[in-house]
Amino acid sequence: MIDLSFTLNGAPVSQRVEDRTSLADLVREGHGLTGTHVGCEHGACGACTVLVDGEPARSCIVLAAMCEGRAVTTAEGLVDDPVMAELRRQFHDKHALQCGFCTPAMMISARDIIARHGAAAPATIRKELAGQICRCTGYAPIVAAIAAAGAALNPSSDAAAAAPHVAATAAGASDAS
Ligand code: FES
Ligand code: FES
Repeated sequence: MIDLSFTLNGAPVSQRVEDRTSLADLVREGHGLTGTHVGCEHGACGACTVLVDGEPARSCIVLAAMCEGRAVTTAEGLVDDPVMAELRRQFHDKHALQCGFCTPAMMISARDIIARHGAAAPATIRKELAGQICRCTGYAPIVAAIAAAGAALNPSSDAAAAAPHVAATAAGASDAS
């Protein structure tokens, strides 16, 4: 057992964990944050993606002990994030989920893509999403939702200019909120 102190969704946490406990098990079983899903458990599917110090990480292959002093953010910690709000809107509008198993991690990765690329082109999104597996929706609507969210959040970009209805929809939605 080791003593571990870290930040989870903005709140300081200190607890004892087994050396072998994965970050995925820690957030799910230790803290009830079940938006972090466990699929393959060997770093291949991306369903367990969380943020560690703001960077996407596969929590099934990160030991909890490696998070000493670090900031861990799960999907639950991004509920009020404006990029996630736009992604939720676009995933809903583009029918970009069916069972939802991959969706929290898919959105965390999408948020990172938008942070790094802004209004990313579909080809860039497909390349960046290579490590996120969805077994039921198909990738076309997921890519479309991320592209639309990127365009809506970056209304002066070329991508938004090519799809002005996307930016207009987003502007209307934010005006109404
Ligand atoms: S469960 Fe972690 S990458 Fe698949
Ligand atoms: S929505 Fe079912 S696995 Fe992606």
